[in-house]
Amino acid sequence: TTVYVLNGPNLNLLGLREPEIYGSQTLDDIAGMLEDRGRELGLEIDMRQSNHEGHLIDWLHEAQAEGVKAVLLNAGAYTHTSVAIHDAIKSIKVPVIEVHLSNPHKREAFRHHSYVGMAALGTVCGFGANSYLAALDAVSRL
Ligand code: DQA
Repeated sequence: TTVYVLNGPNLNLLGLREPEIYGSQTLDDIAGMLEDRGRELGLEIDMRQSNHEGHLIDWLHEAQAEGVKAVLLNAGAYTHTSVAIHDAIKSIKVPVIEVHLSNPHKREAFRHHSYVGMAALGTVCGFGANSYLAALDAVSRL
């Protein structure tokens, strides 16, 4: 059983990018953590990152076509702007879990609205890299 972990814009710079907010782990470090936990849970992790909105949408469609168990989605700033990603989540039957390293609710007002969260099954935020792990544990119990 496969779980897609889709990461949006600027998350390729994790570790370098505002480490006081996002932590010092890189996206590869997080992929490694998820793969280790996935092995214990019997879940295969397919980790991807793109700075392009349309790639994220294509991958959501692909998740449906491939029949994956669930998608963990950290859409980065597209979370707060993308009606197209919102519609893509609504267009598929695969459960999508919104994930954020930081807690957007205690940050700038422009991060308080989430087009992803409105369409997602649930949200995990504020636990740094552990947000992804908590989301994976939740998915394993679906
Ligand atoms: C983020 C939160 C977003 O508001 C921001 O634009 C990001 C990262 C997070 O993981 O905390 O790029 O999704």
